[in-house]
Amino acid sequence: MTAPLHPDTVAVHSGRADLEALGVHALPIDLSTTNPLPDVERGGDSYEAMATGGRPPQDGSMVYARLWNPTVARFEDALAELEHAEAAVAFGSGMAAMTAVILAHTGATGARHVVAVRPLYGGTDHLLGSGLLGVETTYCRPDEVAAARRADTGLVVVETPANPTLEVADIAEVVRQAGSVPVVVDNTFATPVLQNPIDHGAAMSLHSATKYLGGHGDVIAGVVACDERTAEALRRVRAVTGGLLHPLGAYLLHRGLTTLPVRVRHQQESARRIVQWLVDRPEVAEVFYPGLDGDPRGILERQLRGPGAMIALRLRGGYAAAAAVAGATRLFTHAVSLGGVDSLIQHPAALTHRPVPAEARPAADVLRLSIGLENVDDLLADLANAFATLADPPLSVPPTPESASHMGVART
Ligand SMILES: Cc1ncc(COP(=O)(O)O)c(C=O)c1O
Repeated sequence: MTAPLHPDTVAVHSGRADLEALGVHALPIDLSTTNPLPDVERGGDSYEAMATGGRPPQDGSMVYARLWNPTVARFEDALAELEHAEAAVAFGSGMAAMTAVILAHTGATGARHVVAVRPLYGGTDHLLGSGLLGVETTYCRPDEVAAARRADTGLVVVETPANPTLEVADIAEVVRQAGSVPVVVDNTFATPVLQNPIDHGAAMSLHSATKYLGGHGDVIAGVVACDERTAEALRRVRAVTGGLLHPLGAYLLHRGLTTLPVRVRHQQESARRIVQWLVDRPEVAEVFYPGLDGDPRGILERQLRGPGAMIALRLRGGYAAAAAVAGATRLFTHAVSLGGVDSLIQHPAALTHRPVPAEARPAADVLRLSIGLENVDDLLADLANAFATLADPPLSVPPTPESASHMGVART
C-alpha cells in the first residue's frame, strides 16, 4: 500500500486524472456552451441524468454547460480531494453556493428552518434573515445549537474562524448539537490547508473561492465540498437556478490551488508577526486572532493546523480612529474581500457587515486586515505610518452602540 500523498502534493496534482489521455500537461479550458448529442435517446438520457444532479453517462453527452463543464469538474475534483470529501460543486460566487446549500436543505425537503451560528459573514447573515429564500432563521451561539433546533430545521450554518472577528467554533460540538441535521461550515478563512470540517463531522465545507482559493483577486466563485448524495442535490439546484461558475474562473481557481499551501503558510507567518506588533501598540485596544488568548477549550489543537492570515483589531479612538487608519495605509489597499496575494484593510461595520442587524454587527472601532505576500517589515511600516496620522493621542473609550449609530450604518 502506498502512503497517502501530502496535501501540498495533492494541491499540485489533483483534478488532473484525465490530462494524460488528452495528451496535454496544463489544464485545458473548455468554453463550449453546447455539446454534440450521439443520438436523441442518449442525448435525452444524458440531459435527464444531469438535470437531476448526476454526472454525464459514459456513452452520453455533456449536453449543455449549465449541466456540466469539464474545466469546472476538474477544479471540483481537486477541491474535493483537498477537503477529504467525495465530491464538490462549484458556483458563480460564495453567496450562490450558500443559496444552493439553503435551497437544497429546505423548501422541497419540507424543512423551513435554519439554525445560524453567529458571527457570520454579513452577506450570509443577511441572506438567512432576509426571508428571500422562504426560510426562518434562528441565530445563536455555538453552544446553543441544540436549543435552537426545531422539528422542521433542515440546516445548521456555522463559520469558523468567523468573519470578521476570527471567533473559533468547535465544529464537532456544533455537529453533536445539530443531531441529524446537516451542518455546513464556511471554511473560507481557514482554507483546506488549515482545516478540514468534514473530518470533524460537518456535512459540507463551503468556500467563498473568491478569497484564498483563487488568491489573486480576479475570480468571484464559491464551492461546496460534500458527499456525492449532497453533491447531486446541489448540482440539481445549480442546473435549475443557473448559479454556474464560468470555466475561465474554474481554470484560475484550479491553478490557484497549486500555490494555496505555500501562500497560506507564508501569509500566516507574516500575520503572526503583525499580531505580535499590534498587541504592543498604544493605538490598539484589542487584537482578535485565533490562539492569542491560548487554547483553553483545546479547539485549535483538535481542529486547526494554524491561526491563518486574517486579523481583526479594535482601535482606541473609536470609529474616527478606525476610519482614519483605513484611509491612511498605502500598501494595505482599503478594500473589501480578502485572501489574495496583496494586503487589504477594511471596516466591517460599514462594509462587509453593513446588512447585519445592529445588535450583531461588529463594533464601530473594529478594522479587519487580510495579510498578503508583501515583505512583512514593509507591511509593519505601512501600519505604523497609518497609526502616526491619528491626530490626537489615542483615547481609551470603549465602543458604544451610539458610536456605531454615528456611522449611519443601517439594516438594508
Ligand atoms: C466568510 C465568507 N463567506 C462567504 C462570502 C461570500 O462570498 P462571495 O463574495 O464569493 O459571494 C464571503 C465574502 O466576503 C466571506 O467572507
